[in-house]
Amino acid sequence: MFFMSRIIMGTVILSCYSGNPFFILIALMKAKVSVIGAGNVGATTAHLVLQSGLADVVLFDIAEGIPQGKALDLTEAAPLWNVATTCHGTNDYADTARSDVIVITAGFPRKPGMSRDDLLHANADVIKKVVLETAKLSPDGIFIVVTNPMDIMTYVAWKVSGLSPQRVMGMGGILDAARFRTFISMELGISPEDIEAIVLGGHGDLMVPMTQYTTVKGIPLDEFINKERISNLIHRTKNGGAEIVSYLKTGSAFYAPAASTFQMVKAILLDEKRILPCSAYVDGGYGIKDLFIGVPVKLGRAGVQEIIELKLNDDEKMLFHKSAASIKMLLKKIS
Ligand code: APR
Repeated sequence: MFFMSRIIMGTVILSCYSGNPFFILIALMKAKVSVIGAGNVGATTAHLVLQSGLADVVLFDIAEGIPQGKALDLTEAAPLWNVATTCHGTNDYADTARSDVIVITAGFPRKPGMSRDDLLHANADVIKKVVLETAKLSPDGIFIVVTNPMDIMTYVAWKVSGLSPQRVMGMGGILDAARFRTFISMELGISPEDIEAIVLGGHGDLMVPMTQYTTVKGIPLDEFINKERISNLIHRTKNGGAEIVSYLKTGSAFYAPAASTFQMVKAILLDEKRILPCSAYVDGGYGIKDLFIGVPVKLGRAGVQEIIELKLNDDEKMLFHKSAASIKMLLKKIS
């Protein structure tokens, strides 16, 4: 289906550009990514996708003018990035039709006087509406949910979409692992490129950075620093989002969340089959039933192609299940 739609699109553009091999190649390769929510995370994700040259982007928002303005600005940057990708800003869901990937960043940030429960219900309503509208227009699409509380919103998106769980997933673990890698890199004075980390569990205070699977160029982390320093780095990772909110005051992080989302989009579009920590549907593995939670997955064109089950020690098991219980509790509140 993916290749069919690329070929049809290719044929149309081919007829417009009278056989120029450059345009034939671009037409056959380019995919369509719709980003729902043209706020900080959404617009920055659109930027990264467009700059990569991998896909055209539709930027959707309920706010009038915002997606149109940002999309035009992004499209005007394309000549400077030497890419032929374009961005279309819209308030009309119809424009998202036949997307290969749909990224959902729409929602409300927490405001003064708002409880976590208020945010949960308000964003669940947004996700329901967005998924109902987009799923029917992109029956072959893959959904990536970014809106918080992400693991719960991903479950809502999956339920509403009626899609197979392989095609719905949430972004959280890549960001948490990137923060952990950054703090380790700062502590050791070693490039973050050489640091590998996995963070399991919910994308929240109860995430579980996996020290035993964290390495520096393949060497276990505890050969570089002692337990106390590692536990400080874990503490900072768990508070990574809050640390940025405390500086920004009126918003939350968006550069690293968008970069993490882009890594997922790229893995899907290029069928990279990368092993990345994502919120995926776990139903039996890790002793967990019927939950979206952060686990390492193999990510490719078909979506979540496999969940990798890591061997956890007793402490890690306990922390992972505690994290799962907190997601279950929030799910119950909206069920
Ligand atoms: N449909 C489409 N867009 C919507 C809807 C809706 N029903 N409701 C709100 N939006 C849009 C807003 O108009 C706004 O442009 O969602 C956008 C959210 O953008 P920001 O407030 O800038 O939030 P952002 O920082 O991008 O974060 C988005 O990602 O990381 C998470 O916690 C974060 O849940 C938040 C989400």
